[in-house]
Amino acid sequence: MRLTIGVDIGGTKVAAGVVDTDGRILEKVKHSTPAKNSDAIADVVGDAIEELLAHHPQGAVDGVGVGTAGFVHQDRATVVFAPNLALRDEPLKERIQRRIDLPVVIENDANAAAWGEARFGAGRGAEHVTCVTLGTGIGGGVIVDGALLRGRYGVAAEVGHYRLVPDGRRCGCGNRGCWEQYASGRALVAEAQDLAKTEPKRAERLLKLAEGDPERIQGQEITQAAVEGDAAALECFRIVGGWVGQGLADLAAILDPERFVIGGGVSEAGEILLGPVRESFARYVTGRTVRAFADIRAAELGSQAGIVGAADLARV
Ligand code: BGC
Ligand code: NA
Ligand code: ZN
Repeated sequence: MRLTIGVDIGGTKVAAGVVDTDGRILEKVKHSTPAKNSDAIADVVGDAIEELLAHHPQGAVDGVGVGTAGFVHQDRATVVFAPNLALRDEPLKERIQRRIDLPVVIENDANAAAWGEARFGAGRGAEHVTCVTLGTGIGGGVIVDGALLRGRYGVAAEVGHYRLVPDGRRCGCGNRGCWEQYASGRALVAEAQDLAKTEPKRAERLLKLAEGDPERIQGQEITQAAVEGDAAALECFRIVGGWVGQGLADLAAILDPERFVIGGGVSEAGEILLGPVRESFARYVTGRTVRAFADIRAAELGSQAGIVGAADLARV
């Protein structure tokens, strides 16, 4: 059985696992993402890989795939820039290979997650899949004719920086009005915290779950309140879900996928999020009365999609 290691570098956690050819994670480790600088992040990735390798006989693992937030150069070795991480012109592949003697490929985190979902999760059986991950930012992964779209310079599918609102909210990429400022997990949290600060009475349940501190309202509290039927939490999901649906409608005009897969922590809210997403998508998608269009599903692999996808990309 061929084993590979998949690594997922996120805004808060570096997670890595040993994965088999069926996309099963056999063993997993987790570290927090250093906020300081590029090299510190590369060091933590190296540590995680070495920890995993220590538990397997030499030769059992034959490659490493690393998914990281940010713009990955077409060389699949360097991270050029990451709007929400301390990575700038980081020769990630080289730094990892200084420590371990295995082939390494670097991939965008959302591309890796999309590949994982397409092969082993909610995208299975479809040839045209667009995967969108809602987290700190919004990541995108596009599968066309069964292949991952990378673009000429490696940065295709940076859907989070689609300028949905000209002159809108500021984004970490330097532009304004990017989709991720309206439809990410972070945008959902901002919406709820804002409501709790300005209308504490309406946000009573949310505040209770956060021990009275608006800053402590996070995705989990919002989802829990919404599951209980709390009107304020449901409204936050409607607002953010509405923005998600608008973005998907524009993506459908360009990519015409058969399936959208929605991942990231927020997608665990399931229909509470997807209901408003589908409604807004159906309202805005072009040709809605005359054309067939994609169905919208929640991701199936959850937080493991990045590891599983990166590990599989190390094979192909
Ligand atoms: C970054 C992408 C990344 C996404 C999700 C965006 O801000 O530009 O590279 O895939 O966040 O992490
Ligand atoms: Na991407
Ligand atoms: Zn942006």
